Amino acid sequence: MTDTIDTKHLYLRHGADRQVAKSLLLSGKLVAIPTETVYGLAALATNPTAIAAVFAAKQRPLDHPLIVHIGSFSQLDYWVEHVPDEAWRLINEFWPGPLTLLLRKSAKASDAITAGLDTVAVRMPALPELRQLLAELDQGVVAPSANPHKALSPTRAEHVLGSLHGRIDAVLDGGPCDVGLESTIVDLSSGSPRVLRAGPIDADALSQVLGQKVAQPVSHDVKVAGNMRAHYQPNTRLQLLGSAALRHKLSQVGSQSANWVVLHYSELEIPAGITSIKLASQKQLFARHLYDALHQADTLGADEILVEKPPKEGQWMDVWDRLTRASATDL
Ligand code: TXA
Ligand code: MG
Repeated sequence: MTDTIDTKHLYLRHGADRQVAKSLLLSGKLVAIPTETVYGLAALATNPTAIAAVFAAKQRPLDHPLIVHIGSFSQLDYWVEHVPDEAWRLINEFWPGPLTLLLRKSAKASDAITAGLDTVAVRMPALPELRQLLAELDQGVVAPSANPHKALSPTRAEHVLGSLHGRIDAVLDGGPCDVGLESTIVDLSSGSPRVLRAGPIDADALSQVLGQKVAQPVSHDVKVAGNMRAHYQPNTRLQLLGSAALRHKLSQVGSQSANWVVLHYSELEIPAGITSIKLASQKQLFARHLYDALHQADTLGADEILVEKPPKEGQWMDVWDRLTRASATDL
């Protein structure tokens, strides 16, 4: 693909820049937008040509459906056939915020968005200026994460520009993302509610609000379009190691070549010559900085990124899910 577009760098905090972003979107252009989770590559959800351009810019397979992002509650009815009781309960508790609801689609949700499925994914992102912008647009935007297909998601405007500069019309810079991992996706379209993608709002929190057990996959086991074993990947090979195995590997440095970058959260002794990035042991902080650390690690020309395995429990399931996919190889 030839890089021909002069990608504008706009700022969310500047009213004039928000107006530029709005005009670009209204005229069918692609604008990367900040959200509390990760940056999204936005296009007007009512414009099939613009949606096709999103797939092309990301080199995303057409059978991977997109999330519609809305700025006001009144926009919900446009996209979905019916909002069930459970959905309202979750909306009241978690919107605006990092929760995507999968509901039965209305006739207006085109196959370009849903990949021909009879459901549509909808979410209302948290940043107030962004929400205002979305509310002013016709009916909201589609916004997959603003990265090439399968690559690491961006949590800073610089990450977006690093991979999509020249392929999109603008990035609206809102600074680093606060949450840092993609939204939780909950399927409310049939049967009992279930989590399709682990995210910042975990199954316990959802269960509590709904008063019933919400199933959450450990990883990889929900068969939906777009659920891939290998995903969220840096260009450098990534290996996940338990704390003890990582300690052992580091103790061997000297007897083998070790062009590694280490991402860890435990106190570890890092041998001289090895670059390391320390992440917080508190989950929210770990998640906030994880993609940024991986983007950083990816620029260092290492043979391998070694990541200390996070706990495999409750609140950490989204981190666990992303890291296992980041370390997976396609079979
Ligand atoms: O936090 C987020 O959700 C970010 C920000 C930008 O909002 N967006 C995001 O979009 O992560 P994307 O396209 O990278 O991931 C959306 C996931 C995909 O795995 C897709 O297959 C799934 O949502 N999805 C969307 N619509 C669906 C549908 N109708 N049925 C099943 N899965 C769906
Ligand atoms: Mg994505």
